[in-house]
Amino acid sequence: MSKNICFIDGLEGILKYREIDINQLVELPYDAVSYLLIQGELPGDQELAEYAACLHGEREVNREVIDVIRMCNFNVDSIEALRTIVSFISQFDPDINDSSPEGNMRKAIRLIAKIPTIVAAYFRIANGKQPVPPDPSLSHGANFLYMLRGNKPTQLEAEVMEKDFILSAEHELNASTFSSRVTASTLSDLYSAVVSGLCTLKGPLHGGARAEVVTMIEEIACPENAENYVLDKLSKKEKIMGFGHRVYKTYDPRGTIFKQLAKQLAEAKGDMHWYNTAEVVENTVIRELVEKKGKPIYPNVDFYSGVIYKYMDIPPQLATSIFAIGRVSGWIAHCFDQYEKKKIIRPRAFMLDEC
Ligand code: SDX
Repeated sequence: MSKNICFIDGLEGILKYREIDINQLVELPYDAVSYLLIQGELPGDQELAEYAACLHGEREVNREVIDVIRMCNFNVDSIEALRTIVSFISQFDPDINDSSPEGNMRKAIRLIAKIPTIVAAYFRIANGKQPVPPDPSLSHGANFLYMLRGNKPTQLEAEVMEKDFILSAEHELNASTFSSRVTASTLSDLYSAVVSGLCTLKGPLHGGARAEVVTMIEEIACPENAENYVLDKLSKKEKIMGFGHRVYKTYDPRGTIFKQLAKQLAEAKGDMHWYNTAEVVENTVIRELVEKKGKPIYPNVDFYSGVIYKYMDIPPQLATSIFAIGRVSGWIAHCFDQYEKKKIIRPRAFMLDEC
């Protein structure tokens, strides 16, 4: 049942995937959480080893993909290239027209495995470097950072990346998952459904907010500027990116974990600068909107994740694509659920007035 994939209590700030609390899930490998979302239960040791081997074995992309990346415009956000390449690689998938559960699972594994490789190759080529082939011995998080940089990340960085992918993996019927489900409901293929998700994730009211947070923190530059920056934005009735949520009326539980991770990274690097800047932004927003105006506007999943990217030297242009690397497992879990229903989603126009 679709409601079992994810549970959110927006008043209490509780999030579960398949009935397991997010605070427990972040201690697992991303591969296990991906399996949980797609298969409906946690894998045993043998099942996890087999699933991970399939994922790690499908990370490579063919030469045509690299050729297409070389033709991309590197002045725009990487999500533009990712959307194009995911659409492009569907043409090479031997299972594209096999909509059996087995065919769909093979496509799912290829999508989850190859999307990080595409994002990393795009980044390397955009910066005039050769793509780094994936290392099947590394975790999803460690391998992504390795392909991005060409050297292995620290253990803490690898763990933070894994946790980022887990925290980003699923969130019930958010806008991009809804898009993916609508596409799947027509019995269109999984690549098309994932491309729909990517197109919707891109918007700054959704996954695109993360890139805006990285840019905002860069613009603010130091803790001393943060309060005035927020006050100025609010006086112009502008939104503060990375804050607010349609469902949470309290702190987003993912935001709490991301904040702890940002602090850990800051301490490990001996540089509290970006963390302190973000904390002044948070304190000012809470003072101005929650305490003075009674609006439940707290940091969401995109705020401290953006701060983490500052510490990992990840530019804003990659932030939405990194969100997508995690989220693809959630999209696929919902698509599989939708395929089982064999029923088209077709709301009536008047329902939009309630959105
Ligand atoms: C994600 O749905 C999901 O689950 C999404 C997500 C997922 O995992 O899939 O959690 C990921 O998309 C997180 C959200 C990322 N977006 C941002 O950070 C952009 C900034 N936030 C917002 O624009 C806004 O809070 C939304 C889009 C997240 C929610 O929009 P709503 O529910 O339509 O709320 P709203 O825009 O109508 O705001 C209600 C009030 C307004 O004030 P009033 O007009 O009633 O006086 O709250 C104010 C808004 O002005 N408000 C903010 C604010 N967010 C809401 N004011 C300042 N800064 C903000 N960020």
